[in-house]
This record gives sequence, structure tokens and C-alpha cells, in this order.
Amino acid sequence: MKSFKHLLVAFFLFVFTIARADEGMWLPLFLQQLNEKQMKGMGMKISAKDIYNINSGSLKDAIVSFGGFCTGEVISSKGLVLTNHHCGFDAIQNHSTLERNYIRDGFWARNLSEEIPNQGLFVTFIVRIEDVTKQALNGVTKTMSESERQSAIDKNIAGLRKDNKRETYQDNFVRPFFEGNQYFLFVTETYRDIRLVGAPPSAIGNFGKDTDNWMWPRHTGDFSMFRIYAGKDNKPAPYSTDNVPYIPKRSLSISLDGVSEGDFTMVFGFPGRTTQYLPSPAVDQIMTVNDPAKIAIRDKALAVIDGFMRKDEQIKIQYAAKYASISNAWKKWQGEVLGLNSTNAVGKKKAYEADFQKRVNTNPQWKTEYGNLLGDMESHYSALKPYGYARDYYTEIVSKIELFTIAAQLNALITAYEKDGENGFKQRLPVTKNALEGLYTEYSPVVDQQLFEALMEMYVKDQDKKYVSPMLIEWLNGDMNGFKKLAAKVYDATPLDDSKATMKMLEKPAAELVAELKNQQVIRLYQDLLKTYQAEVQSKLGEINGNINKLQRTYMQAQMEVMKEKKFYPDANSTLRVTYGKVKGYNPRDAVKFDFYTYLDGVMDKYKPGDYEFDVPEKLRSLFISKDYGQYGSKGKMPVCFIAMNHTTGGNSGSPALDAYGNLIGLNFDRVWEGTMSDINYDPSICRNIMVDIRYVLFIVDKYAGAGHLVKEMKLVHPKKK
Ligand code: ARG
Ligand code: ASP
Repeated sequence: MKSFKHLLVAFFLFVFTIARADEGMWLPLFLQQLNEKQMKGMGMKISAKDIYNINSGSLKDAIVSFGGFCTGEVISSKGLVLTNHHCGFDAIQNHSTLERNYIRDGFWARNLSEEIPNQGLFVTFIVRIEDVTKQALNGVTKTMSESERQSAIDKNIAGLRKDNKRETYQDNFVRPFFEGNQYFLFVTETYRDIRLVGAPPSAIGNFGKDTDNWMWPRHTGDFSMFRIYAGKDNKPAPYSTDNVPYIPKRSLSISLDGVSEGDFTMVFGFPGRTTQYLPSPAVDQIMTVNDPAKIAIRDKALAVIDGFMRKDEQIKIQYAAKYASISNAWKKWQGEVLGLNSTNAVGKKKAYEADFQKRVNTNPQWKTEYGNLLGDMESHYSALKPYGYARDYYTEIVSKIELFTIAAQLNALITAYEKDGENGFKQRLPVTKNALEGLYTEYSPVVDQQLFEALMEMYVKDQDKKYVSPMLIEWLNGDMNGFKKLAAKVYDATPLDDSKATMKMLEKPAAELVAELKNQQVIRLYQDLLKTYQAEVQSKLGEINGNINKLQRTYMQAQMEVMKEKKFYPDANSTLRVTYGKVKGYNPRDAVKFDFYTYLDGVMDKYKPGDYEFDVPEKLRSLFISKDYGQYGSKGKMPVCFIAMNHTTGGNSGSPALDAYGNLIGLNFDRVWEGTMSDINYDPSICRNIMVDIRYVLFIVDKYAGAGHLVKEMKLVHPKKK
């Protein structure tokens, strides 16, 4: 009997570790303590120290935060950096003209002198990470209010950052982890001379566009290449023609052997934001209130923009990036709701919470401290509900109507003038001008008017009257009855939808301009929308969220105390993390099974001549026909993408996928649709990250683009053949 019980316990522990093996975005400095054993058990052949070591070189020295929004990795001893096409897209777009269309045709520098500098682009290395929890929380007490607590912490952090030893060319920052229960300091080195080296045409780098985005099976070669330049001393230096390619402490070796199902993989990078420790009512709210509201608004916005893009070539170019970005989150949220539902995330959270509550109740001290925690969270989240919905409505709608973005920019001028007079105005003016110039190049008043008409109707009709601007209601009750009329009158009356008129207006003397702006109907409407939002929603949100933050912090601490057998990892916060998991296909739904690999054959299956999303360049088609894959093919085929169980999120784009030895095998760029809820509740059954096979990257560079000189810089290895 006893041994049977033991067996049972062992069995559950086994199931538990298996089920959880792939979840988590781990801090590199705790890998040895928390993960190394499991990673080795899953097939890893190197040690935690090979991944993160501050005393001698380790893999982390090859990983960079790319511009603060993506990840990149160093792949040659001359500072060559690999990241995604969609991460380098801004740079590629900035250097493109109608004659030199790098978006359409791709770009390849034939030598160092052809590499193109990018103003504002930077990469950041992490030199070391330190646990500074004690110092950051010094003097913080339980009875402090949230704002007292925050100012004490801010003061501590300022001191910490100042006192922490570092070189003159290094910087540091401190971030909260585990909802503010722990704090870590990061010493960083940032290089600001980053040059574009190469990018495939969009028909490869963004093959399948929005239709294939967030989808598996996938056939996108989502990569681009940059080079880090440094001063002659190899240290960070501002852009200069005298700068030289950076010699890295470490660059990644590249495996040409590919992966098999079940292989160990890890992804090393900078995941942006996740919320894994929400209680069930919060998850329920995301699924039933917030995501659906945001999806509905974007449904409308996308339909309007798409209608114009289809019939107008000029608008298609102007709105392409905007459309892709609105559609990216829109599609993700749909997958998120689907996945939360299909994996019964709320039910599972509830079961976990019941277990937590039961354990808390058995311990008198826990019971006093944490006994009401779940109930309190439930009532605060329920209080949040109407305000969260109103926030989503306001922010989604107001940000999609660009006349309001214009009004907001001009309103900032008014505010600056009223607060700081001529001086304030003078300081603000160039910022406003700059923002408006950028905006107008991708703006069509016709599209915007229709967006206004469609979205203002939602704003008025789909929410409680008390959150709606009284001015707008008054207009609608007057001669602008009906949204078509309203939109027509607003856009007819305003000069602000015309770039020339507005830019000319900005040349006027401050006092005159401000008086004129204050009389603009659109600006008055914007001010009223904002005022209503601030008074009716924002202040209340701030208050409730303050309470929720405190409860979430306590809940985090309580879980770590009460659920002793569970290993906790902190939510993503744009800091360096390691995630690991096996290469594996999945079953998205009944009777459907997805394989873990795609091939160039699949690109050709999707090929639609002349199509905006699925055209295939001539050269790639002929390489396919001649099967000219060189050393990059496998058994007569050209691998393109693969999936694994790594727990990734936005910001992990461009992250290296590494094999058991730490060699580069792929480039992370997306997740599968059914599993995008991994940001809230990772589920090993359907959560998969999508990577481009590194051999496809090299094949495109070498065989397609003829940039074999870049491959020569790299170190190619055959780990499976040794
Ligand atoms: N879904 C990926 C991510 O969230 C890729 C987005 C870029 N591709 C696109 N077709 N919009 O960033
Ligand atoms: N595509 C995302 C990115 O750009 C990655 C993801 O969300 O999985 O970071």
C-alpha cells in the first residue's frame, strides 16, 4: 500500500514536471539553480554557465536587445547581427524609394562601404544582472500607501544606479519582478552605430503577410541583417565614418544539421510583457470583455482601411504598415480568446485557486494574511470591469482616428503655451511639427473621415452614456444628426486634415496660432473627449488599479509561500530571458495534426502569381525547380520553418533558437494562432513558437541573394555529425 502511494506521488510529480517542462521565461542568472537539471534532462549538452556567466564569455554576450523592441544575435566575429525582417522593417523602409525599393526587391551590401547607417537605431548588450531586492525595498513597510511605497523605492533605485560600479561607456537600469516583490539591476552596453547589411524582398521576408501572420503552417523567411560598428577601441561610439566593425566577445556558431522532433531547443531574448499570474476573474474579463471590445473596434477599422486599399494604389502604400500593425494585435487577440476557451483556462485557474485557498485555510498565519485575498481580488476586478471596457473603447477609437492624433499634437501646443508661455510653445513646436510631418505622409482624409464615421458610432452607441463626450451628444442632437452627417461636417469644416494648410498655420506667431487652434471645432471635440475620459474613467481606473497592483503583489508572494512545489518565473518585462522546450508538432483541434516542419515545397503550394501576399520571386522559383540548395538542403528538400514548445512573446522576435550545444538553428519570429494565449496561460498542448530554419536564412543569403561573402564570415558547424 505504502509503495503504491509512493508510486502515485512519483507519478503525479512526473506528470507535473512534464506538463510544466516547457513553460517559463527564466532569468539567466538563476538557470543553474532552477533549470539546469531539467534542461540537461531534456537533452541540453552545455551547462548553465555556458549560457550566462559574468566572469568569462558565455552565450549571453552574443544576444542584444534590438532597438528596444526586438531581439538580435551576433553571428560573426565582425559584429554581424541577425534579426527578423519585421524588426528591421523600419530601417528597410526608410532607405527605400520608388527607384530603390528595398521593401520590394531586398537589399544586399556587397562590402562594408555599402552598409547603410540608421539614425536612432541601437543594440544593447547585457553585461551583468544583480539581485538588488534588499536595497530597493530598504525602508519599505507594509503600512505604507502605494504612492509612499513607490517613492521610497524610486529613491532607493536612484541611489543604487548611481553607486553601482560600471565603466564610463556602460549604463544601468533597475526593474521590478514578480509584481514588485523582487528587483534586479542590469548593467548594459549600448552601440548606436548600427548599419543595414541585408534584407530579402518582402515576398520572402514577409511571405504570406497578414493572411499567414500568427499561423502555422508558415513559410516566411522573416530575417534581416545588420552590423554593429564601434570606435577604434571597440567601445560604443556615435556614428562616424571612422568607426569599424565591432569585434564581439562572443558570436554564435551556426548548425547546418537541422532539428528532429523531440530535439532540445532554447530561445534567448527579450520578451516584452506577459501576465501569467492573474486570478480567474481577470482572465475571464480579458476573454469576455476587453479582447472582444478591441476586436470589434478593429474589425470596423480594418474593414474601412481595406476597402480603400483595394481600390487605391496610393492608399495601399500609405496604409500598408498601419494596416499590418492594427491587424497584428487584432488577429492575436482572436487567437487568444480561442485558446483560452479551448484550454479551459478559467476553469484551470479556478481549480488552482481552490487548491491555494484550501492550503491557506490550513495555516492560521496564512489564513489571516491571505485568507481573503482571492475574494478581494475578485471584487476589485469586478469594480474594474466597466472602466476597463471604457478605457479600451476610448484608447482604441481615439487612436485609430488620426484627426484626433493631429488634434492631440496641436492641443499639446496649446497646453505648453498656457503653462509656460512663449518659451513653452517654442520648445514644443518642433516636436509637434515633426510628429505631424510623419503622420501626414501616411494619411488620407477620405479614409480618416470614414473611420471617424464608423468608430464614433461605436463610441456613442456601445457604451454607457456617462462615458460619452457631452459635446458630441449635443452635436448629434443638433444639426449633425446621424454619423455620416457628423463626419461630413467635421471634416468639411476643418483645415487640419490638410497637411499644407496645417503646416502653414504652424508658422504663425504663438498667441495668434493658439487663439486660432482653440477655436477649431475638432480640437474642442478632442478636448471634450479627453476631459470626459479623464473625469469619468481614468481617475477611477488609477484608483482601482492601485489596489489591484497591491493585491497582485501580495498574491504573488502568497503563491510562492503556499505553493511550495511550484517553480515560479517572473512575468516578461523586456529583460533578458531564457526559455526552453522541445521541437514538436501539435493538434489544434479534433482530427487535425500539424507537423513540426515546413519546406520550400509549401511556399510553392501557396504561390499565387502577382498576389500581394503570396507572390514568389522568379529566382526563388527557379532555385526550387533546379533544387539548387547547396549545403543548406536536406534530403533533396529545402527546410523553411519549424515549431517548438518554447514560451515566447512579443519582443522575442529576432531571438536565436539554439540547439543542445548552443549553436544557432533558427530565428524566432512568431507563435501559432491557437496558442497566443501563452501570454496569459501557457498550455503545452497548443503553445508553439515559430522559427525560420537557419539553413533557409543562409540559403537565401547565399544562393538567392548571392551574398555568400556574408556566410564566409560565419562559423558553420555539424554538431550531429560528430
Ligand atoms: N505576429 C508577429 C509578431 O507579433 C509578426 C508580425 C509581423 N508580420 C506581419 N505580417 N504583420 O510580431
Ligand atoms: N511576432 C512577435 C514579435 O514581434 C513574437 C511573438 O509575439 O511571438 O516579437
